[in-house]
Amino acid sequence: MSETPERSAMDWEQRFRDDDTPWERGQTHPFLQHCIDSGEIGPGKSVIIPGCGRCPEVAIIARHATHTIAADLSETAIAWQGKQLQLERLDAELIVGDILEWRPEAPIDAVYEQTFLCAIPPRLRIEYEQAMHAWLKPGGKLLALFMQKEERGGPPYGCSLEAMHELFPEERWIWPPDSTFAPYPHPHLNDKAELAGFLTRR
Ligand SMILES: C[S@@+](CC[C@H](N)C(=O)[O-])C[C@H]1O[C@@H](n2cnc3c(N)ncnc32)[C@H](O)[C@@H]1O
Repeated sequence: MSETPERSAMDWEQRFRDDDTPWERGQTHPFLQHCIDSGEIGPGKSVIIPGCGRCPEVAIIARHATHTIAADLSETAIAWQGKQLQLERLDAELIVGDILEWRPEAPIDAVYEQTFLCAIPPRLRIEYEQAMHAWLKPGGKLLALFMQKEERGGPPYGCSLEAMHELFPEERWIWPPDSTFAPYPHPHLNDKAELAGFLTRR
């Protein structure tokens, strides 16, 4: 897998080296507990966290799921994840590279989407949807946090539910009612809400 600058919205590697990472919550995302409580992340499940950065959710998912995959363009972020997993004596498959170009050996049960879709340039969103559909088994879940943002530009780029319905069409994805999407304000991004919900791959 390659890293070409035009496929990245910013120099993520440098941001990790500079410790300039305002998207990090500094605490575990409360949505993760909901995914665990609902059984979408747990024994028997394979779960991928694309664009994982240094999020602590990787180790928690590795503790609960049977097979965890975490991927990022940044080797610094993946090295950090490797150390965390080692400290906690946990196992996960770690991948450095452009994850949109990757395909799994066997289909996966769930994708944990946390501030990755909103980080990639919107022109790559079609590739993102194709990757999610290719990775997941039928009935597999996209455990999604959709970043809500009115201003133009990014990252983060806004992921309105209207745009997400267009990106993840009903012919390929089963949507829950929009009213079930719970808002989680992001503590370091001006309290911008992330809307959380499960999409099922057909
Ligand atoms: C806003 S950060 C979010 C990191 C993490 N999910 C979190 O919640 O802290 C976006 C991450 O996506 C990674 N990234 C961006 N484009 C990528 C790509 N095409 N393949 C893999 N990782 C990518 C960046 O390196 C960065 O770590």
